[in-house]
Order: sequence, then C-alpha cells, then structure tokens
Amino acid sequence: MTDRRTIIRSVGAYLPAQVMTNDDLSKIVDTTDEWIQQRTGIKQRHIAAEGENTSDLAAAAARKAMENAGITIADIDLIIVATTTPDMTFPATAAVVQQKLGMHHGAAFDIQAVCSGFVYAVATADSYLKNGLGKRALVIGAETASRLLDWTDRTTCVLFGDGAGAVVMEMGKPGEDRGVLATALRSDGQHWNKLYVDGGVSSTRTVGHVRMEGKEVFKHAVGMITDVVYKVLDDTGNTIADLDWFVPHQANKRIIDGAGVKLGLPPEKVVVTVDRHANTSAASVPLALNTAVADGRIKRGDLVMIEAMGGGFTWGASLIRW
Ligand code: ACO
Repeated sequence: MTDRRTIIRSVGAYLPAQVMTNDDLSKIVDTTDEWIQQRTGIKQRHIAAEGENTSDLAAAAARKAMENAGITIADIDLIIVATTTPDMTFPATAAVVQQKLGMHHGAAFDIQAVCSGFVYAVATADSYLKNGLGKRALVIGAETASRLLDWTDRTTCVLFGDGAGAVVMEMGKPGEDRGVLATALRSDGQHWNKLYVDGGVSSTRTVGHVRMEGKEVFKHAVGMITDVVYKVLDDTGNTIADLDWFVPHQANKRIIDGAGVKLGLPPEKVVVTVDRHANTSAASVPLALNTAVADGRIKRGDLVMIEAMGGGFTWGASLIRW
C-alpha cells in the first residue's frame, strides 16, 4: 500500500438524443406530469435509440472523460463498468467497451451493485490503483434501464432513464492532498426482493422486468444513506459543514430532500439532476458529477460527497477532495 491517494482527474458523460417527457409517458400508461413531478421530481428522461447499447453509452462517456483529461486510451490500463443492463450476459460490458475504445492491454470487468454500482466501482478502482495493479482507470456507470422496464407498469416505468457517466482515476502525486479520502460500502441481502428484476439466466432464463416495493425502498433509503455519509465523515475527521458538494444517487427528489434534511445540508450544496435524467441507476452519480463540474460548481479543492443506495439493498458513500 502507498500513502498516495487516487485522484479523479476528469469526468465525461453521454445522454441518448431521445427525450421522453412525463406528458409523453401519459400517452403510454395511466399517469400525469403532475403525479410524477410531485412524487419523484422527475420531468423527463433520455431513452437509448434502437440498436444503441449500454456499451455505446459507456464508450461515449469514456471518450469525453479522456478528452477532458487530455489523454488517450493508451494511458488507461483498467476499465470498470458499473451496470445492471449489460449488452449481453457475457462477456462483461467493459470488454465490449474496451474493444470500442481500441484497447488491447490492461484489464476490464463489470461491477453489479445496481444503483450503488458507481460508488462500488470507485472504491474498487481506488484499491486496485493503490495496490499498484494499474496506473490509470476509466470508471464508468452506464445503463439502458429502459430495456428492463415493464412499460405497462406505471409504478416503475415512470422512474427510470438511460445514460452514462465516466471518470478517469489515477494515482496522485506524493504529498498531494486531493483524491479519494474514504469510502464506506454496505449491503444487506435480506432486502433483495424489495427491488429486483423478475428474470435471470439461472432462474427463469429470461431478462425480466423491474419490480419494486416503492414504499419499502423509500423507508430504508434515507437511513442507509445517512449511515454511510456519517461513517466516511467520521473516518476522515470531517463534518457536514465541511462539505462543499453533496452528489447523491438520483433516484427520487423526495429521497434526496429527506437525506439532505436529516444531514442538515443546505439545499444549495446538493446537486440535483433527477428532474432531467430520472433514475439512471449506476450512471446517475457520474452524470450528476459531470453536470456540476461542467457548469463550474465543483472546482479543484472542493470537498465532495458521493453516495448511492439501491437493489440488494446495497449502499455506499465516498468522500473526495476534488
Ligand atoms: N401515475 C399515477 N398514479 C400512480 C402512479 C403513476 N405513475 N404510480 C402509482 N400510482 C398510484 C397508485 O396506484 C396508488 O393509487 P391508489 O391510491 O388508487 O391505490 C397511488 O398512486 C399511490 O401509490 P403509492 O405507491 O402509495 O405512491 P407513493 O406515494 O408511495 O409513491 C413512489 C410511489 C414514487 C414509487 C414512492 O414509493 C417512492 O418514491 N419510492 C422510492 C422508490 C424509488 O425511488 N425507487 C427507485 C429505484 S430504487 C433506488 O434507486 C434507490
């Protein structure tokens, strides 16, 4: 192990061109713009085009992240894709992304932790790089969640969207004070059947659709989120007041607000994109990071908390000096 930290050098994102508004949805299922906005804060979501796969979204976001870092694929030796919607059952979507980016060296694999996947992937890349297994990683969250939805079930199909976000992670210089300061990962499989997909290779030999006990998810979300946020703050000797930005998983505006209130966070420090992107599962945190970096809110030296909670249940948070 080393006392150097891993830093996030750049961010990139990709959203499919097609936008589906709540009014568009109300032509498919019995719902209204008012109901969706009131219960979730969502106004619209992006939907991948026919033939556009998770690996296409991931590769596009990765190219942007590399461009923003001023590097090429030759400088990368690890690709991690956090996804619940792989192109195929195997190989890993990361391998397909590797092919699309023209990379023949290094390693590539997927992480499946549903909506917490990006936080799990950041933690994995952090350990991988610190242990000297590689020098620079593309860490990507990418989803075509629209392909997992039952478009006749209004209780789930209004919540999700497609997209991808990526970061370039690398070892910082000795003595550099920025980088990943601490991460907490958690899961508790007793809750798996509160949010799951009712199909799978081994069980049904089908892909299946998202099924959810919305109230149960809601009930657990705020407590789980605040638990890991306090853990990484305690581990690093920081407090809520030290945070410059809180970048939560974008599942639902009411969950984000509930966590913000419980933590005592001023709303202006919370990055919210769920209104435009809906819940993009593992892509939501890097998409939100990309938004706040691109519009100039998150700057070098800022203290940034990312967190997520989702199927499993899994949950996690990471504190990053930007
Ligand atoms: N449009 C209109 N009416 C609807 C819709 C819809 N899209 N969906 C449900 N309803 C109806 C229900 O049928 C019900 O009608 P009824 O009273 O006649 O039976 C009524 O609205 C209320 O339904 P509830 O399920 O009680 O609504 P609730 O207030 O719990 O809101 C929601 C549902 C938004 C899903 C909420 O439970 C929630 O936010 N849960 C968190 C889950 C979440 O965000 N999951 C995302 C994935 S998990 C993650 O990423 C963390």
